[in-house]
Amino acid sequence: MNKASKLQIRELPIGVFDSGLGGLTVVSALRQRFPFENIVYLGDNARVPYGTRSAETITRYAHNCADFLSEIGLKMLVVACNTASAVAIDSLQNYFSFPVIGVIKAGARASVAATLTGKVGVIGTEGTIGSKAYPREIYKINTSIEVFQNAAPLLVPLVEEGWLEGEVPRLVLERYLLPMVKNDIDVLMLGCTHYPVLKAQISASLKKMGKDCTIVDSASSVALEVAQILELKKMAGNKIKGTLECYVTDLPASFTTVANRFLGYDVGVVKRVDI
Ligand code: DGL
Repeated sequence: MNKASKLQIRELPIGVFDSGLGGLTVVSALRQRFPFENIVYLGDNARVPYGTRSAETITRYAHNCADFLSEIGLKMLVVACNTASAVAIDSLQNYFSFPVIGVIKAGARASVAATLTGKVGVIGTEGTIGSKAYPREIYKINTSIEVFQNAAPLLVPLVEEGWLEGEVPRLVLERYLLPMVKNDIDVLMLGCTHYPVLKAQISASLKKMGKDCTIVDSASSVALEVAQILELKKMAGNKIKGTLECYVTDLPASFTTVANRFLGYDVGVVKRVDI
């Protein structure tokens, strides 16, 4: 590759997608770590949730999202969706020539690093939990760790609705967390990028159940993996402050309201696209 084309790749954005706004938890970590990188985000909120669908459908949706972003031109792609990472990461990695990373390996690494007792709880969508991707990746790192999983399908709609505190999320969370609390986990892995938005309520619910757990998500570990790839491939290095460009497949206005609240700054004009 000559110097000019390397320079061009440096200037390209990092693409990030999720089924809705959950992937913004990853965007937030990426923007903190890489203030000079441009990021293009796609939330496929016309088809949220992914987590209740078949592996074939999720893989098709994931390719639709990745195709849309790749047409903009990317230096790399971050699949900021556990469900899509769990079932479609190999297919995406085989298809695209730029680096594609998912969130599961990063999340597995973070939970193994955090546990002291070797008992890790994982909550995620039905798709992620059914794929057993987390136990698989955790056992690859340490076979002695016990993993207790529970699907938590009501949490994504609560987050998409911005319903983050109060009695309803509390009761829903207690129902999902109780079996893991009974198994005496010391780490709770939030295996869905939507869930960190509920972190305060999750922590309060665990405390109410008498459980003081370390709550882990994959966002900062993914940022570390992105840093390693940018370094290895010598792709880092815009000199001016990076931008964030957001696309959704439906309802840009409601996405913008929740995204602004969640990120704590104005995401700007969110464009609706058909993919
Ligand atoms: N935020 C996604 C995940 O990490 C998808 C949630 C969904 O669409 O069901 O799994």
